[in-house]
Amino acid sequence: MPRTLWAVADLHAAVKANTPHIDGLAPENPNDWLIVAGDVAERTELVLRVLRQLKSRFAEVIWVPGNHELFSRSGDRCRGRDKYDELVAGCRDLGIYTPEDPYPVFAGHTVAGLFTLYDYSFRRPGVSVEEALAAAREAQLVMTDDFAIAPFVDIRAWCWDRLAYTIKRLSRISGPTVLVNHWPLVQEPTLKLGIPEISLWCGTRHTRSWAKRYDARAVVYGHLHMPGTIVVDGVEHHEVSLGYPRQWSQWDAHRNRQPWPYPVLHEED
Ligand SMILES: [Fe+2]
Repeated sequence: MPRTLWAVADLHAAVKANTPHIDGLAPENPNDWLIVAGDVAERTELVLRVLRQLKSRFAEVIWVPGNHELFSRSGDRCRGRDKYDELVAGCRDLGIYTPEDPYPVFAGHTVAGLFTLYDYSFRRPGVSVEEALAAAREAQLVMTDDFAIAPFVDIRAWCWDRLAYTIKRLSRISGPTVLVNHWPLVQEPTLKLGIPEISLWCGTRHTRSWAKRYDARAVVYGHLHMPGTIVVDGVEHHEVSLGYPRQWSQWDAHRNRQPWPYPVLHEED
């Protein structure tokens, strides 16, 4: 039986109704790997508990953070960048790959777990960040990120730090890659959001060329809770999120649903 590189995102484990989906994640071959592309949960203890379970089932687990992992409150011990560092340390104790570790290789493909955040550049041309955010406020759009992440770190500055760090690492890879990020690397999937202003919180224009530049055979992401595949510049971008019950119950009812977990690569074992 071939071994498979599977991918999921947005498990949102704090939502009880998602538990059967998480419990049902199991390898078909003991050498299967699992990508977990962010939004496991909010509390570090729960994120690591879920990841520990998954690591006990799959040969390797590759985790990247989503915005929900970064949520904190002013009384929390670890906030902002410290919260990310705490999660990375916890994953290392579990033997789980993070965006701070050497990239593992599956079937000749470097599986690069990325963490690039967003910088409000997914906006209409000719509109400034300030104007775009003002329009979002006018549309009464309030994102949890704005009071659970933004008070504790300059998100745009962190995004740009992450871009510089990631480019340096990606440019050293030779051969094909699978790029994994919580936020989409291109803006196209965000154009399908019911409320277009939400795209401001969904990524950065600076990752647009990465799939082609770094020889990606596939891009894996989550965040939008709109699973599906799009092709940009000849590369498939797979959204692999589970999301909330009101979302996955709709996908379940849909006959042409994309497989979940999503099989990204196979290799004869
Ligand atoms: Fe999510």
